[in-house]
Amino acid sequence: MDRIRVLGGVPLHGRMEIGGAKNAALPLMACGLLTDETLTLRNVPALADIATMQQLLAQHGITVARAGREARLGGRIGNTEAPYEIVRKMRASVLVLGPLLARCGQARVSLPGGCAIGTRPVDLHLRGLEQMGADISIDAGYVTASVRGRLRGAHILMPQVSVGATENLLMAATLAEGRSVIANAAREPEIHDLAECLRAMGARIEGHGTDRIEIEGVAALHGATHDILPDRIEAGTYACAVAIAGGDLLLAGARLADIEAVALALRQAGIEVEERPGGVFVRRLNGLAGTDVMTEPYPGFPTDMQAQFMALMSVAEGAAMVTETIFENRFMHVPELNRMGARINVHGASAIVRGVDALSGAPVMATDLRASVSLVLAGLAARGETVIDRVYHLDRGYEAVERKLAAVGARIERI
Ligand code: EPZ
Repeated sequence: MDRIRVLGGVPLHGRMEIGGAKNAALPLMACGLLTDETLTLRNVPALADIATMQQLLAQHGITVARAGREARLGGRIGNTEAPYEIVRKMRASVLVLGPLLARCGQARVSLPGGCAIGTRPVDLHLRGLEQMGADISIDAGYVTASVRGRLRGAHILMPQVSVGATENLLMAATLAEGRSVIANAAREPEIHDLAECLRAMGARIEGHGTDRIEIEGVAALHGATHDILPDRIEAGTYACAVAIAGGDLLLAGARLADIEAVALALRQAGIEVEERPGGVFVRRLNGLAGTDVMTEPYPGFPTDMQAQFMALMSVAEGAAMVTETIFENRFMHVPELNRMGARINVHGASAIVRGVDALSGAPVMATDLRASVSLVLAGLAARGETVIDRVYHLDRGYEAVERKLAAVGARIERI
């Protein structure tokens, strides 16, 4: 099992390429189920989760031909079951449910099961599909869904904001009969990107990126070519890396508009963040000031940036309150950071972080994707050596993290 070793205390300098967004690529790949024609996706990141989605689509009958950062999806659906052994590896597998139901009138998808950060239910996905006419039952850990004829357009008010449910229902509605409205929809840039790809495939969608999306169903979708937007969480992560390690980075390809809430928090902490031609420039000026953050659905501070920002706050001057409102168990990085000398106390959904002068390197263990990268960030600033175990979590969402950081000066290697 790979581990990553970091020797802290070295500032970062240089340019870093930001890749295509993992959380856009996954639903975009599910769009391959919505047409028999070829869907070409560009700027596809090389990540373990992408490989898992490729494996899932292949057993449905959709081949994914990779050539560098391009993926060509084609083929006809031959199987409408998504098996537990794949779905349990990656929750986003549930995103095949809406497309399968819309195209084949039936689907049997394993329930994803929980993960390190929470129970991760899919009730909002299922309720919405029922409103579109699907019969849904759960047995033996699988969701069995069917509809006679086509799904019917519906007015769906989401009881709470859900990125995945918005994506599933959006994809299903493109082929439903009549008009659908998704009210209280998620507004993440990845949703806007998904809708733009669906429109290129012939879907009729308005309002994507706002909390009210309107869809006019069509009989069929055709092939298209779509460039995946840059990964705002990868960009935010490396912005926190240079904030904690010191120095300056140009995050090439990053879009400041997608990380405004992160930029605001970093600026309040004393970090320079500004738009440059072709990317975002981030520089550590002098000290770090403790800054409170609360995670919210987009455009609020992203929950996927909470662990990274907490690592930064652990070496800030003063205290910071970090509140997690999206997931019920997303503080798994806290005990590991405290082993490195951080002073963090968790009270329910909030953690108080009292900044220390310096962290000390230690052997630590990753538990989920973003917690694991927060330990890498802490290692960049810690005195001595940090070894992070279970880095397969990292590889799910970060492409060549040690290569990218070493290229801008970090003393980091995979062992
Ligand atoms: C997406 O997960 C992302 N994953 C997550 O990123 C991200 O943290 C999350 O959105 C929030 O931004 C992908 O896009 C592949 P939700 P998703 O549905 O869709 C509850 C990462 O690190 N909920 O917006 O699963 C849910 O439990 C990952 O890249 C229900 O109760 O998130 C959570 O508390 C981690 N019922 C809240 O809503 C449902 O049917 C938000 O979940 C669905 C969700």
